Amino acid sequence: MASWLPLLWLLGLLPAATPAPSRRDAGAQAWEPASPELLRRPARFALDTYNRGLAAGARAVLGTVSGRVRRAGRGSLYSLKVTLEELPCTDPMVCQLPVTKKTLLCSFEVSYELGKHALLKQDCGPVDTKMKDDKNETSSPLLPLSDRDPLPQDFYVRMASLFKYFITTYNRTYETEEEAQWRMSIFINNMIKAQKIQALDRGTAQYGVTKFSDLTEEEFRTIYLNPLLKEELGKKMRLVKFVGDPAPPEWDWRKKGAVTKVKNQGMCGSCWAFSVTGNVEGQWFLKRGDLLSLSEQELVDCDTVDKACMGGLPSNAYSAIETLGGLETEDDYSYSGHLQTCSFSAQKVKVYINDSVELSHNEQELAAWLAKNGPISIAINAFGMQFYRHGISHPLRPLCSRWFIDHAVLLVGYGNRSDVPFWAIKNSWGTDWGEEGYYYLHRGSGACGVNVMASSAVVN
Ligand SMILES: *[C@@H]1O[C@H](CO)[C@@H](O)[C@H](O)[C@H]1NC(C)=O
Ligand SMILES: *[C@@H]1O[C@H](CO)[C@@H](O)[C@H](O)[C@H]1NC(C)=O
Ligand SMILES: *[C@@H]1O[C@H](CO)[C@@H](O)[C@H](O)[C@H]1NC(C)=O
Ligand SMILES: *[C@@H]1O[C@H](CO)[C@@H](O)[C@H](O)[C@H]1NC(C)=O
Repeated sequence: MASWLPLLWLLGLLPAATPAPSRRDAGAQAWEPASPELLRRPARFALDTYNRGLAAGARAVLGTVSGRVRRAGRGSLYSLKVTLEELPCTDPMVCQLPVTKKTLLCSFEVSYELGKHALLKQDCGPVDTKMKDDKNETSSPLLPLSDRDPLPQDFYVRMASLFKYFITTYNRTYETEEEAQWRMSIFINNMIKAQKIQALDRGTAQYGVTKFSDLTEEEFRTIYLNPLLKEELGKKMRLVKFVGDPAPPEWDWRKKGAVTKVKNQGMCGSCWAFSVTGNVEGQWFLKRGDLLSLSEQELVDCDTVDKACMGGLPSNAYSAIETLGGLETEDDYSYSGHLQTCSFSAQKVKVYINDSVELSHNEQELAAWLAKNGPISIAINAFGMQFYRHGISHPLRPLCSRWFIDHAVLLVGYGNRSDVPFWAIKNSWGTDWGEEGYYYLHRGSGACGVNVMASSAVVN
């Protein structure tokens, strides 16, 4: 692999949009063009999902629809390109953008199997990405923003050195030259994607090279995200009304010893387990004064309602902890990152919980609850997180819908950084992601659904 980057080879590679054969495709038929008639129902389903929860006046309407279909067994997978017309947003809690009526271009992937549609992927952006931004660029753009702009002369050279930096920084090795080429083409596409996300971010976040830069969006979703996080599937929890003092101006449970070190879920969609242990660790610390690192693997193996590495819900995980009788520590039941047979032992239980509660959707009340009671389990739309490096993320509302929640995490604090209000969020992707493993998200605008699925265990 010494000379893995000859420039000619790179030039031959671009433009980098050629999909490589995916192992998962085995058994499925090829993509076929689909008639508008055939696409009408999946498109309608995608639109309804997009509009879920929006007031009648705020719903988007379908514009043009085109797409392809792929059949596998008795099911079908639809890949749709749809334009949506969105009306101006008038809710100041949700939208602070000075935008008028917008056309969005969306790619959806909708599956249809056993009489049911499911939305597997949603990727929407304004058709005109050259939106006016009120802040000046702090770094010179690496890449052209529009696909129509010509690539600068030194583009390939820059990409090559960036890919080399990536490989060194994250210690990547690829089995074959072909794999390396394929990964590099993904990397380049991802850099372009990250730059678009960067241009549309309204916070202070920087997007670019991360340890996930050589994964396709689909791989990233499948491995790390949690498509099962749908509220209605979960056990209903008691909603607690917040009563108490207003939130202090800032708070950080890390400084008060209530938060264990950042963990790593590995290649397993077990974020739900990490979110819940993080919350229970905090609750136990605040009630008993002892910070114990608790076992996610116990939940992965023994919570039979949730789906181990295929996703889960905090509400179900709290029930599982109550039913099992408590949690063992990380040391006693250590993390393997795949489903094993349950080897829970009641004798090793170090921590129990007595109940769980759902918390307010109001971010000021959430802040007040957090400062008084401890870190909170939440779930968010993980849009952009594959490419997040640092700073306060604040994606445009249509890019990070609160109706598309796919990642559970832990709120540990909040505050302002140069007048930009943020939530400090403990993630479970290791310390070599984000700010030492933490994600910072805009506070006060319902960004990425940060407020829609807040919950906590109760220790009596
Ligand atoms: C952006 O930069 C230009 C030139 O440096 C300056 O004239 C302008 O005032 C800046 N705008 C803002 C919003 O800071
Ligand atoms: C890099 O990866 C190799 C093989 O996968 C491993 O032996 C080595 O310890 C890793 N180095 C670092 C710094 O992680
Ligand atoms: C809380 O749960 C523990 C363990 O199940 C139990 O021993 C304890 O009595 C419960 N506390 C209350 C106040 O119900
Ligand atoms: C944080 O920033 C927001 C928006 O700029 C401002 O309204 C708020 O007063 C600030 N809070 C503190 C504690 O500085």
